[in-house]
Amino acid sequence: MIFSGTNTIGFMGCGNMAQAIIKGLIDNKVIPAQKIFISNRSQGKLLKLRDQFGVNPVNSNEELVEKSQVVVLAMKPQDLLAAIDPMGGIFQEKQIVISLAAGVKLNTLKKHLPLCRWIRLMPNTPTLIGQGLVGYYTDQTDSYLDTLVEDLFKPLGQCSKLKDEEQFESFMVACSSGIGFVYEMMIYWQDWMIEYGFEEEVAQNLTLQTFLGASLLAKGSPHLTLEELQTRVASKKGVTEAGLQSMRDSEIERSLRVAFEKAGLRNQEMAKLLK
Ligand SMILES: NC(=O)c1ccc[n+]([C@@H]2O[C@H](COP(=O)([O-])OP(=O)(O)OC[C@H]3O[C@@H](n4cnc5c(N)ncnc54)[C@H](OP(=O)(O)O)[C@@H]3O)[C@@H](O)[C@H]2O)c1
Repeated sequence: MIFSGTNTIGFMGCGNMAQAIIKGLIDNKVIPAQKIFISNRSQGKLLKLRDQFGVNPVNSNEELVEKSQVVVLAMKPQDLLAAIDPMGGIFQEKQIVISLAAGVKLNTLKKHLPLCRWIRLMPNTPTLIGQGLVGYYTDQTDSYLDTLVEDLFKPLGQCSKLKDEEQFESFMVACSSGIGFVYEMMIYWQDWMIEYGFEEEVAQNLTLQTFLGASLLAKGSPHLTLEELQTRVASKKGVTEAGLQSMRDSEIERSLRVAFEKAGLRNQEMAKLLK
């Protein structure tokens, strides 16, 4: 663990994602609470987090940057540039800054704070229960940063280093927005069962267990591909095969691919607005 008890980390913005990360850090004893600093636009969340975790609220973003070796920018993308713009002289040369913002490209971040060591990082929502994925990208060739990300974010789930920013954006679509796409499918499953007489609560539970079971079985069978696992459910001319054929006839793959592409395009549009 390279992030020792003497290091400090600051969260600028204390909304849902910062709170999930702080909880992971404290619950897993990655950093003691007294080494965590927090700032936020409004006061309420600061006091709540201080009472809940014993972390240190500060009076301004400037004070946060001065006190923190690693700064996590955890505000919404549209608030980020306005927040860091007036702070060019406050960040130290080579200070490590982690941006959670979707749609704000590394070049844009570097234009505003060129001397910092930047990491773009994207946690998905299952990080809230320690079962998430955390994708990150940095243009620095510095293994210290990789170890730092692993140390800090492993409690939230599996960390994946992405090879370039394009891959980072694809990760975001598939694994972060993708959680929303999976729920969309689950809603169809559940609604169909309700139509066939299951109570809503029962239908939801059975749907969840179906998706969970499929994932856990695949994860527990690393020697089998998804196609092989699928073949084991679908015997020739059987029930599953009939359903699968219909899914293929109605081009469900194409529909999903279009959804992925549309999400990617929206991300590019946002990046243009947030320069
Ligand atoms: N939630 C997710 O599932 C998720 C997943 C991946 C990535 N992210 C990224 O994580 C970031 C945060 O998302 P979130 O869901 O945590 O948002 P959120 O709940 O809206 O939290 C954002 C926080 O930033 C604060 N803030 C805004 N401007 C500020 C400023 N100038 N200085 C200090 N604090 C400021 C807000 O303060 P107020 O209390 O005054 O509003 C709010 O508490 C976003 O960039 C998002 O793209 C989120």
